[in-house]
Order: sequence, then C-alpha cells, then structure tokens
Amino acid sequence: MDAIELLLKRVSVPRLQEPAPTAEQLDVMLCAALRSPDHGQIRPWRFLTIGGDDRQALGELFVKGLLSTTADANSELIEKTRAMPLRAPLVLVVIARITEHPKVPAHEQLLAAGCAAHAILLAAHAQGVGAVWRTGNVAEMSLVNSGLGLSDHEQIVGYMYLGTPINSLRNPPYVDPAPFVAQWPSRNLD
Ligand SMILES: Cc1cc2nc3c(=O)[nH]c(=O)nc-3n(C[C@H](O)[C@H](O)[C@H](O)COP(=O)(O)O)c2cc1C
Repeated sequence: MDAIELLLKRVSVPRLQEPAPTAEQLDVMLCAALRSPDHGQIRPWRFLTIGGDDRQALGELFVKGLLSTTADANSELIEKTRAMPLRAPLVLVVIARITEHPKVPAHEQLLAAGCAAHAILLAAHAQGVGAVWRTGNVAEMSLVNSGLGLSDHEQIVGYMYLGTPINSLRNPPYVDPAPFVAQWPSRNLD
C-alpha cells in the first residue's frame, strides 16, 4: 500500500471478529511502533498482548476497577464493562514508561508512546488488520493498572483492539487543512 494513501485512508474499525492478527502481522505492528520518533532513544513504552480466554480475565479486572471507582454501578454497566475486551480477538495494551531524564521531559515521553500507538494502527491498516484505539475510564483506574502490572511511573496510553473487520471499511472524508494552519508572522495582503 502506498504510504500517503495509508496516512490519508486509515480508519478505526470498531466492529471486529476472529481471526486475530497472525504472529507475523503483530510483529510488523510492534516493529512499526518501535520506529516511532523518540527523543533520546529512551523507548518510553512497552506492550501487553491479551487474547483468547485471557480477555475474560481482563474483563473481570475492568469490573473490579469499575466497582472500586463507581459505587453505584448498575448491573447493565457491570456486564457491559465485563464484555469490553471481547469486542476484538486481540487487545494490545500500549503503556508509556515515564522516567526521569535530563533532556526529555515526561510529556515528550508520553507523546512518543502515543506515536507508537499510532504506528500500530497504521501498520495494522496496511496489513488489512482492523484496529481501534480505545481508552475510557478503564485506562485510568489504579486497580486496573496494578492488575496489569504497571508500576507508578507507567500509564496506559490505549487499548488497541485488533482483529478482522466485520464490515467493509469506510472511506474517510476529505478534511480541509486550511482552518488549522496559518503563516507566521501574518502578512497583510493589500
Ligand atoms: C488517546 C485516544 C483515546 C481514544 N479513546 C477512545 C475510546 O475510548 N472510545 C472510542 O470509541 N474512541 C476512542 N478514540 C478515538 C478512536 O480511536 C478514533 O480515532 C475515532 O473514533 C475516529 O475514528 P477514525 O480513527 O476512523 O478517524 C481515542 C483516540 C485517541 C487518540
């Protein structure tokens, strides 16, 4: 696939089914993530793959997290939360590992980990793998973080849901960049 076409046409694929990406496809996605711009080459990221029945364990962890933060969670919300990881055959968790660095502040490390997440989406799309980047409150719960083995200096950048698209991919509309860009300093045209 042409690189520019990939950049312009990548879309999120929220409705996913089996099969999960192959080991080779996943490897390409991770290699793409590791090629992300990274000030100081400190590699401020790591990844967890959660597939098969382990997704059920992740759902239970999400429920634990929900109950620890939302005392009045009703049964509908609990069941919805439990089923979240089942929305794709594979969940890839992107984790930012923020360390003290004399030249690279924390926000730059987080941005690099975000670039890694984007690279995963792009490499998925290029290989015909459906992918969507999700966060929500389950990316912010300390109980979920500790259940996934995150330490204090780590945070979840996103859950990348990966699988085979159920529907044909939508064609994203053209968005005019003009309102988002200006020349500086501004020049008077008359
Ligand atoms: C940091 C981040 C977190 C996101 N979290 C969610 C989420 O929890 N749920 C969701 O439906 N979309 C979430 N999105 C947005 C989707 O991944 C997607 O980009 C958006 O729906 C637009 O679709 P598109 O990627 O096809 O343009 C998130 C995106 C980013 C960058």
